[in-house]
Amino acid sequence: MQIVIKQVNLQSINNKTTPKNNKLKFSIMNNETMNLSASSRQMIEMEEQYGAHNYHPLPVVLHKGEGIYVWDVDGKKYFDFLSSYSAVNQGHCHPRIVKALKDQADVLCLTSRAFYNDALCEYEKFMHEYFGYDKVLPMNTGAEGVETALKLARRWGAVKKGIENDKIKIVCCGGNFHGRTVTVITMSDDPSSYAQYGPLTPGFIRIPYNDPKALEEVLEKDGKEICAFIAEPIQGEAGVFVPDDGYLKKCYDLCKKHNVLFIADEVQTGIARTGRMLCVEHDGIRPDIVILGKALGGGVLPVSACLADDEVMMNIKPGEHGSTFGGFPLAAKVAVEALKVVKDENLVENAEKMGKIFREEIKKIDSPHIVQVRGRGLLNAIVTKPINGKTAWDICLKMRDNGLLAKPTHDDIIRFAPPLCITEPELKEAIAIIKKTFEEMAG
Ligand SMILES: Cc1ncc(COP(=O)(O)O)c(C=O)c1O
Repeated sequence: MQIVIKQVNLQSINNKTTPKNNKLKFSIMNNETMNLSASSRQMIEMEEQYGAHNYHPLPVVLHKGEGIYVWDVDGKKYFDFLSSYSAVNQGHCHPRIVKALKDQADVLCLTSRAFYNDALCEYEKFMHEYFGYDKVLPMNTGAEGVETALKLARRWGAVKKGIENDKIKIVCCGGNFHGRTVTVITMSDDPSSYAQYGPLTPGFIRIPYNDPKALEEVLEKDGKEICAFIAEPIQGEAGVFVPDDGYLKKCYDLCKKHNVLFIADEVQTGIARTGRMLCVEHDGIRPDIVILGKALGGGVLPVSACLADDEVMMNIKPGEHGSTFGGFPLAAKVAVEALKVVKDENLVENAEKMGKIFREEIKKIDSPHIVQVRGRGLLNAIVTKPINGKTAWDICLKMRDNGLLAKPTHDDIIRFAPPLCITEPELKEAIAIIKKTFEEMAG
């Protein structure tokens, strides 16, 4: 099952994107922004005019954040049920994390890795003790973390497994989202990620997600040339697709049998989001490489990292990989504080408990729009069905008007991922808004 990047016809891509672009222009003038102030509309127009159109934001212009709430430029308050795609697990502007940022900013922000600094070493030791891997390799964005993991795996494959470098392969999963760099989008099967960005990177085999048999087949066939299998423990961008219990364990065991590294992309699922510190803990496995990002930066800085033991990590030598900002003093201090907050505030336990309540309560909503409710911890989604032309986008607009922000993924799925510090009364209030919205949509 070799990866096949189909020659995608331009018309089909245009068909896919044109309605959204139309909607974007449309949105500035009509009912989507009807409830917004003139200043909000002006800011949206400014962004439209001077910013690249690589996003389609829900029309709301935010100004302030605190804990689980954000406020728009007119002072209207909202529950944030996206948490910047799970980068704000600790809550907006957490005072301890902001203090760590400010304190370090007054002393030393950036040294590059040309010199040592007194923050990075502390961060590295802290990460070792916190996650139990020999070493950490610090980067900035999630995509860079993924790139780093792919390089670590290829290098390990060449050095330790003795695979000829131009034959080396990595197995990835259908429906994945690992970021936006050229190599990373090579793994994607979503044309809106990869089309017309070619030529892409060779050396990937894509198999269906949640299908251990497919992994077994590919490992039996090509195992000698495969250095790694990469998967998200839950596919977040695919619409919070939760694999079967034991899927990751089966894949992990197969990897061990064939001397293949198991890479867990925990950029979105990690750091307490799913009711475990790492989502792979649900399946009781310890991946060879863990990729972290998003909430590692405590919602204030881009901080990502790869965790691995020496057997994998020590094959990259000085000068062979890096980043000017990777592990910079500000990031080091922020990441330590962000992770301390997760433990001190019992965010793992809270995510597990609140997530159960969320799913139980949402499943009680009787709406023709709701097809399925799924998720783990506080990474949840409602799969919706359009009725009378009203889609997930319209539901999100109405939730916005009712004081709660969420965003559709893949047109019909709405992700619900509040900061993990949400309390039960707050959660119940938010659920009431969601319920009211679905009632209004039906009415
Ligand atoms: C699982 C996963 N990996 C990687 C990334 C890329 O992270 P970033 O946007 O910080 O590059 C994302 C972003 O959504 C993600 O969900």
